[in-house]
Amino acid sequence: MIERLDKVLASQNIGSRKEVGHLIRKGIVTVNGIVVKKADMKVNGELDKICVNGAALQFKRYLYLMMNKPAGILSASRDNLCQTVLNLLPQTYQRRGLFPAGRLDRDTEGLLIITNDGIFAHKMLAPKSNIDKVYHAKLNVPVTAEDIVRFAQGVVINGLHCLPASLESFEKNNEPWARITVCEGKFHQVKRMLAACGKIVLYLERVKIGNLELDTDLKRGQVRELTIEEKDAILHK
Ligand code: URA
Repeated sequence: MIERLDKVLASQNIGSRKEVGHLIRKGIVTVNGIVVKKADMKVNGELDKICVNGAALQFKRYLYLMMNKPAGILSASRDNLCQTVLNLLPQTYQRRGLFPAGRLDRDTEGLLIITNDGIFAHKMLAPKSNIDKVYHAKLNVPVTAEDIVRFAQGVVINGLHCLPASLESFEKNNEPWARITVCEGKFHQVKRMLAACGKIVLYLERVKIGNLELDTDLKRGQVRELTIEEKDAILHK
């Protein structure tokens, strides 16, 4: 894509449009080895070799980040009152256009994808893509065989039919937990499906989307870039 040089530099977090304009006029930006002093010069970020102060720009049009979301933070781009997942991003990933692809409740933890690629996010979230999301829930009481059947048949919440989902029971520290796999993302879906079976979710964590598992080396609140393979794994079952 052909764009203005200052726009390309600003999109890569080199500085604001005003700041990069200043760098360009100072003569420290080169394009294919030639000093460029015009901020509106047209360049191709993918093909042209752009250097700032001698350092080559590692141009990436799209960012795909995995966050291990902590509780207490909103899955939103910005909010006047509460901290959002974008507020947690380190400076190197502060870029225009990033947003959380799909939401976790404020008290839910775990795997969240943050990107600036709207087409990818749409593919990941569109119901027809059928991408599985896997959650671990700590419950007040263990799930029953009937709950498992209800999930498999599709739970009905106040007349709203959910698609068939998988429910497995397990124990952790002698407490009742469940592993839930859903391919939709209705509002509070997991909590409401379990509530329809008379279960209260005491804690909820997302551990997998498609074939991508949460990297347990990431501490709560930390992010890292996905590899190409990991990004592709999201869209494959
Ligand atoms: N379902 C819920 O109930 N909450 C979440 O955060 C995600 C799925």
